[in-house]
Amino acid sequence: MISQPNKRIMVKGRSDVIQDFGEWDHFGSNETFFEFTESWFRECCRVLKSSGWMYIFFDRKKVGYFDLFLAKKYDMKSKTVFAWLKSNPCPSIRKSNWLSASEFVWVGCKHRGRIRNFLSHKEMYNYIITPNKAAYGETIHPAEKPRKVIERFIRAGSDVGDVVLDPFMGSGTTAVVCKSLNRKYIGFESNPQFYKIALDRIAKTKTETQ
Ligand SMILES: C[S@@+](CC[C@H](N)C(=O)[O-])C[C@H]1O[C@@H](n2cnc3c(N)ncnc32)[C@H](O)[C@@H]1O
Repeated sequence: MISQPNKRIMVKGRSDVIQDFGEWDHFGSNETFFEFTESWFRECCRVLKSSGWMYIFFDRKKVGYFDLFLAKKYDMKSKTVFAWLKSNPCPSIRKSNWLSASEFVWVGCKHRGRIRNFLSHKEMYNYIITPNKAAYGETIHPAEKPRKVIERFIRAGSDVGDVVLDPFMGSGTTAVVCKSLNRKYIGFESNPQFYKIALDRIAKTKTETQ
């Protein structure tokens, strides 16, 4: 069954804005989450080139899991936690909690790792300030990421002609950015509706001339 993206419901005593954006994030237990996450992390480490970089958007409640457990176990170097700061967070009428105005990305690599493609000092900041999907959304995918954020990672972490793997492609943002920046891409998406959305977006994307 395909979920109804961004459906907002008012429930007495609950937050006025739903922060839960995807059914794929529902795991029966922490054990199931850890097992699943480790299985794809292990495979990504296996296929990552020695000069390659890994970027993982993660749930704030799992902060530490990548550094303290997975990176150590699979001999990956943890390089930073990158923050996407949202300039237009969903408001909360009740003012009862901090707004969800940020998302975090674990950044790691094999061996020592060195980013060769930084052009300016500003590009090296481990944060970016850009609005949430309400401002840039191109599709109905509830977790579509901003091109600007994905572009920052792909420009810094790969060269023209390199292959980028996104095992959770969603609306295809990674592939769209790769195509426009002359990178090759491989992606997986289990939901047929999102898969089709991604294919349509990719087909409409033009490659930038260098
Ligand atoms: C956070 S979203 C990715 C959003 C994407 N970065 C974008 O910009 O649209 C995660 C996606 O992973 C997909 N997914 C979840 N489990 C999967 C699996 N085992 N194999 C492939 N795709 C999966 C979900 O259907 C969802 O579209």
